[in-house]
Amino acid sequence: MITFKNVTKKFQDGTEALKGISMSIPSNKLTAIIGPSGCGKTTLMRMINRLEIPTTGEVFIDNELITERDEIELRRSIGYVIQRIGLIPHMTIEENIALVPHLLQWEKDKITARVDELMEMVGLEPEIFKHRYPLELSGGQQQRVGVCRALASNPNIVLMDEPFSALDPISREQLQEKLRQLQLQIQKTIVFVTHDMDEALEIADYIIIMRDGKVEQMATPKALIEYQNNDFVRDFIGQERIMRKRKFGTILLEKFTQFYDRTWEGKIQQIKIEASVDEAIQLLNQYPESRLAVLKEGQVIGYIGHHSLLEAAIAREGGGHFK
Ligand SMILES: Nc1ncnc2c1ncn2[C@@H]1O[C@H](COP(=O)(O)OP(=O)(O)OP(=O)(O)O)[C@@H](O)[C@H]1O
Ligand SMILES: [Mg+2]
Repeated sequence: MITFKNVTKKFQDGTEALKGISMSIPSNKLTAIIGPSGCGKTTLMRMINRLEIPTTGEVFIDNELITERDEIELRRSIGYVIQRIGLIPHMTIEENIALVPHLLQWEKDKITARVDELMEMVGLEPEIFKHRYPLELSGGQQQRVGVCRALASNPNIVLMDEPFSALDPISREQLQEKLRQLQLQIQKTIVFVTHDMDEALEIADYIIIMRDGKVEQMATPKALIEYQNNDFVRDFIGQERIMRKRKFGTILLEKFTQFYDRTWEGKIQQIKIEASVDEAIQLLNQYPESRLAVLKEGQVIGYIGHHSLLEAAIAREGGGHFK
């Protein structure tokens, strides 16, 4: 788990890039960070491997203060795909990918096998590309090499700063799918910065939405579609996308509605069938003595209480990714 406690960052010129971040990024999950340009995503990410030092506050990895770790060892133990590729120009693709395994003094055969395996995984034929130099590759191909390099030594934490941004939509979707499959096997702690909401909803276990140096919301993709903390988050995701993805929530609410309930004599709150599971939970939390009457086209179709709502929420979380 990566924990930020009251982290702020003020650069020398006075720019306040981070304005008080307190949150935890869970282990073995893929967490996407998304937000407008300049909101502090890269700065936040670079604090995890100490390329950026907080002005105030602290960063922990598995409850250990990272400033107490050896800086070099810390950096080598974390894979990092930087935003603008960052391959070393006078080294071949193979040498670039093998950088950290080499520093860790892996055996030569093991390094070669690992380089080939990773290149095949991202769709770069080793025999063709291994001996080339970065400038002899397209931007998208270089980005793939950057991904290989970050994964090469099999680190537990991988930081990826817009790793797929220079790819065409088809390659991008292929790599997203590859990353998701890979993550199912390797279960690393991946922190993934992106500008693309659909990408975040597709690949992430958790999404952090940032604005102007602050975190506006952190939630699973499904919970985020169901409930937004504020108008900024709602607008950032986009109403159209929310409606499109929400069908799932509506179906759930309908599924868990008890169609007839004679025994209930307590208070009733009304909720529309189009509402999300999270909105229903909010309403019941506000009126804990009540049940919800579910309205479809103005008619009560049934009732829902704490128990069935909890079942709906569990079904939602267990329901797999959006497709
Ligand atoms: N070394 C620096 N000195 C001064 N200001 C900086 C420095 N690095 C970043 N900033 C500023 O801090 C803010 C956050 O920058 P950061 O790179 O973290 O944004 P970002 O969310 O990653 O943006 P993008 O989506 O464009 O990559 C910006 O206003 C940026 O100009
Ligand atoms: Mg950035």
